Amino acid sequence: MLRVYRGELLHFLADPAKVALQESYQYFEDGLMIIKDGLIESIGEANELLPTLDDNIDVTHYKSGLMMPGFIDTHVHYPQTEMIASYGEQLLEWLENYTFPFERQFSDLEHGKNVAEFFLSQLLEAGTTTALVFGTVHKASVDAFFTVAQQKKLRMICGKVLMDQNCPDYLSDTAQTGYDDSKALIEKWHNTDRLQYAITPRFAPTCSTEQLNKAGQLLAEHPSVYLHTHLSENKAEIAWVKELFPDSTSYLDVYDKSKLLGRRSVFAHGVHLHDEECQRLGETNSAIAFCPSSNLFLGSGLFNLQQAQKFDVNVGLGSDIGAGTTFSMLSTINEGYKTQQLRQEKLSPFQSLYLATLGGARALDLEGTVGNFTQGAEADFVLLDYHATPLMARRMQHCTTLSEKLFILSMLGDERHVKATHIMGERVTGEPK
Ligand code: GUN
Ligand code: ZN
Repeated sequence: MLRVYRGELLHFLADPAKVALQESYQYFEDGLMIIKDGLIESIGEANELLPTLDDNIDVTHYKSGLMMPGFIDTHVHYPQTEMIASYGEQLLEWLENYTFPFERQFSDLEHGKNVAEFFLSQLLEAGTTTALVFGTVHKASVDAFFTVAQQKKLRMICGKVLMDQNCPDYLSDTAQTGYDDSKALIEKWHNTDRLQYAITPRFAPTCSTEQLNKAGQLLAEHPSVYLHTHLSENKAEIAWVKELFPDSTSYLDVYDKSKLLGRRSVFAHGVHLHDEECQRLGETNSAIAFCPSSNLFLGSGLFNLQQAQKFDVNVGLGSDIGAGTTFSMLSTINEGYKTQQLRQEKLSPFQSLYLATLGGARALDLEGTVGNFTQGAEADFVLLDYHATPLMARRMQHCTTLSEKLFILSMLGDERHVKATHIMGERVTGEPK
């Protein structure tokens, strides 16, 4: 089945930090996207591609707005949706006072499905079409999430939290039950439709060495699954890891010793990394999820994007709901820009929109599948609206270049500027055209 969309089109082919800017993206002011059975068949100038189509083909013409690949959120906790904006604490107290008691409810499958339904609809409204998602320690939390994601035909990655120490008894598994439950979930869900599994040790403080080693064993047994955890987010956390794992040379080394690094390993935050850790992340092709909204909300610190780039670490953007305060990747970019300003660095609109799309896909080892419009990629895309709010509309009157337009979009933009989201070529949000 063929679907054709016409309008302004932008996507990335390479990292603007690595190649000449003009080579990093493709932009068509009047473009055409041809989708066959949910996959990109071709994109190009409308006046060149339209004559190649049969006369009877229906073309959806988006006369205003920008089509871009759906956003990719490389770190988010669906069970924390309803505890977003919990006041006053930094990481460790925030976990103890708010997060752990909250996650208890997810032993109940129906509760999980209810929250997953809301969470996924919020993601889609915000234009996020793929995410790497934490469940809770409960197996049912992941069954719930995948059941709903499957119904919505989404490309999603999720995993059951592993934690067997330094957490309430009601949230604790063991090295063995964590392994067994994760394995059963992998067998049931990994590569089912568009779903993939991530082995998910919460973070070093809540995992015994035995549990981390079992996670490494499971990863070796299932090399195509992901590894998803937290790393070097907060200074008190890092000091605690040093105390708990005196034989490790760094926070990252705790994970490295358990064989948890690799092409499908994603570490959230990485705010306070030493050069040696960054180098190791780069050489193992591991990725960092840059979560500026969360890093600011919890007072964790300012991520050093330039350090990650220097060591060739794959970086994507993460909302980190519920420590982050927005589902919107546009708003997350806004927080990222300000983070870089406080570091006396710049984050160009091309760089940030790359991170939100192809950069995220690369961090998740999904280039060619999602994140841009190359032939054969899954046609998940958004239509962004420059005029959804009076302020943005007015500001847009005074801009002349694409770069300026994209910057304004990403500084003032949020869910309101996502006019429609499309999954495998089909529009799933927004008013009918
Ligand atoms: N570190 C361990 N667990 C969490 C969590 O739920 N959120 C954040 N931001 N950091 C963590
Ligand atoms: Zn997190």
